[in-house]
Amino acid sequence: MTISDTPPEVTASSPQYASPQYAPQFLDTQILEVHPGGRLEGEVLISGAKNSVLKIMAATTLATGRFIISNVPRITDVRYMAELLAEIGCEVTWSGLNELTIDTPSEITPVAPYDLVTKLRASISLLGPLLARCAEAEVALPGGDDFGPRPVDMHLKALEELGAEITVEHGIISAKASHLTGTRLVLEFPSVGATENILMAAVRAKGVTVIENAAREPEIADLASCLAQMGATVSGVGTSTLVVEGTDELWPVERAVIPDRIEVSTFLAALGIAGGEILLRNARHSHLDMVVRKLGEMEMRISPSSNGLWAMCDRRLRAVDVSTLPYPGVPTDMKPLLVALLAHADGVGIVTENLFAGRFRYVDELVRMGADIRYEGQHVIVRGKERLSGAPVQGHDIRAAAALLAAGLGAEGITEVHGAQHIDRGYEDFAGKLNALGAEVVRR
Ligand code: UD1
Repeated sequence: MTISDTPPEVTASSPQYASPQYAPQFLDTQILEVHPGGRLEGEVLISGAKNSVLKIMAATTLATGRFIISNVPRITDVRYMAELLAEIGCEVTWSGLNELTIDTPSEITPVAPYDLVTKLRASISLLGPLLARCAEAEVALPGGDDFGPRPVDMHLKALEELGAEITVEHGIISAKASHLTGTRLVLEFPSVGATENILMAAVRAKGVTVIENAAREPEIADLASCLAQMGATVSGVGTSTLVVEGTDELWPVERAVIPDRIEVSTFLAALGIAGGEILLRNARHSHLDMVVRKLGEMEMRISPSSNGLWAMCDRRLRAVDVSTLPYPGVPTDMKPLLVALLAHADGVGIVTENLFAGRFRYVDELVRMGADIRYEGQHVIVRGKERLSGAPVQGHDIRAAAALLAAGLGAEGITEVHGAQHIDRGYEDFAGKLNALGAEVVRR
């Protein structure tokens, strides 16, 4: 079937286009150049959450018919998930600037091949729903990445406990189950991906599934609410015990994706480095309690407004210690941004990572910009400097590349962020949004 990057006026029934030329934000340009600038001033519109939309897209394989998803960010990861859905048999169309229409046929092919899975780690989220829908599924095993090892053992163990027979051979996870049966599952760790995969399998299982020590991220609540709208019964949403009653009757829905709290955190970090006063439209304060508290301790002023969050930074921020933790803790995705922020702050701050073993390559890049940072084990020790100096640097993942770009806002001279395609994977028009706030970021 087809995927299109069509301009908004093209409807679902119009001819389909697979060419990226219709989506200017998917340009292949790989370098973003940050020129030293002044304060950030004005409003920025926060896009839909990457980590929510990808799972909602996976959930569309659970029911036949037409889904309409709005507030979809125009990011490359969405395109990769759309390619995967097309491979499975769905028809995916941009039916508006930020709206996707997904038509799921009654017959789908429950296979996620290696070449697409390696582009998008979140493709593991298809395993649960495809198995539940088709009684079998094959998903290539995603490899590790710059975060260090990314095992999926909890996903597989939970699906086995629901009755699946799973084999991993030649790099492919094969799962089979004539039917899944609800049971009580206790997760070793509140894994986001495992919780989501179990949820999407359990909605079609026979009987009741209880997930203990479930992850509580807002994106999981968004997925659970989507599944409930599709006809599933899910209770305990937002808590660490989720209870799911399985059903054979699921239907397609229209819904909007929640705003991206990590995009909000990214703009707050940029504000902390550049200074200024901004309004983050659509940002939800309730998803950012700990981030707001930590930035408040650093002396950034943040408060909820009627349509988002207002934030002001009129001084050099004070260094603090921060630990990343599962939600509602400070998100691990914010770690590179916090390190970039602390590199400019007054004093010494220690950032402790509690989720992923890797994720340090960006530190050496910040050091190239003159930052004073050391790391040992899971700790990063940052001695703030008044000014960093612009340099060519390499981003190796979405948040690392965004953090380097943010660091460049407070550096003397030009910072060239290579690997800008990582930013496009997770941020809709990041450079354009920063420029609208007064920054000078140029694509080369
Ligand atoms: C998701 C997010 C990612 C975020 C992370 C933690 C998406 C697409 N990605 O990733 O941006 O940084 O949550 O908030 O939503 N683990 C295992 N075995 C498993 C599964 C996980 O040991 O089967 C471990 C991981 O190695 C890690 C921890 O559990 O140490 C948390 O991982 P998890 O919450 O599953 O992260 P992801 O869902 O991969």
